[in-house]
Amino acid sequence: MKPTPVARHARSGPPLAPLRHLRQLTAAVRRLQAGAGPAPALALVLGSGFAGVRDAVTVEWSAPFARLPGFVAPEVPGHAGAVLVGRLAGVRVCVLAGRAHYYEGHDLATVTYPVRVLARWGVRLLVLTNAAGGIHPRLRPGDFLALRDHINFMGAHPLRGPAPPGLERFVDLSAVYDAALRAHLHAAARETGVRLRAGVYLAVSGPSYETPAEIRAFARLGADAVGMSTVPEAIVARQCGLRVAGLSCITNRAAGLSDRPITHAEVLTVAGQIRERATRLLGAFVRRVGGA
Ligand code: HPA
Repeated sequence: MKPTPVARHARSGPPLAPLRHLRQLTAAVRRLQAGAGPAPALALVLGSGFAGVRDAVTVEWSAPFARLPGFVAPEVPGHAGAVLVGRLAGVRVCVLAGRAHYYEGHDLATVTYPVRVLARWGVRLLVLTNAAGGIHPRLRPGDFLALRDHINFMGAHPLRGPAPPGLERFVDLSAVYDAALRAHLHAAARETGVRLRAGVYLAVSGPSYETPAEIRAFARLGADAVGMSTVPEAIVARQCGLRVAGLSCITNRAAGLSDRPITHAEVLTVAGQIRERATRLLGAFVRRVGGA
């Protein structure tokens, strides 16, 4: 049958986002398999505030993002982004040091692509970390927050377009963040004397910080913290069947909640200060979860 003009247009248009990377995905997985062997059960994505955890990993194999098909280097100066495989607290893990952000101009298919690679490789548990602004009055700079749920306020969705073969398009998000993994985070926090609360993370696209009116609105929507990452990766991880934990470090009170303006420098300073506690917390967490 002759294709209709609409169908012709659809076939000759740009490749649809989640499918665009499929060929690169296979190549990236092969590269990981050849270099590092079988996938560790557990992977961690280190966002702002957690970059120092990288130094606690006894590296067995690593590759800069630039060497892995389809990965894009994050913009953060001095951190080109790398995949490490090695031991954290004695447990074999994969660490993604750095991530690409939506606010850098990448689409969400690109931002979430490393998660698809990890899942295809065989990773089963994913810990997503980030820096966030505290909205809940009890959240102070330096606190940690285990994500209980999220609100996607990015104005974009990582599953838009056709689902990759074999995966569900209409993914259930009623329990994105795994309760058992969260319990392990709380136990690890108690063990290491680190203050950890649980709450709802709201993701915005950035790159500006929010207005005080936006933060008041987000508080009424039920958000405890606000940030510019994690949610797209968590959604894709759930589509791929991974169990997910989310962990924020609160680097500042959100807009309008303190008498100081929010600066990226302040966020980075606090992120640097939590480095040691972040490493202890994640080390204890990984030890508890083991290779499970
Ligand atoms: N808003 C959004 N993202 C952030 C913030 C914030 O206040 N702090 C760190 N990341």
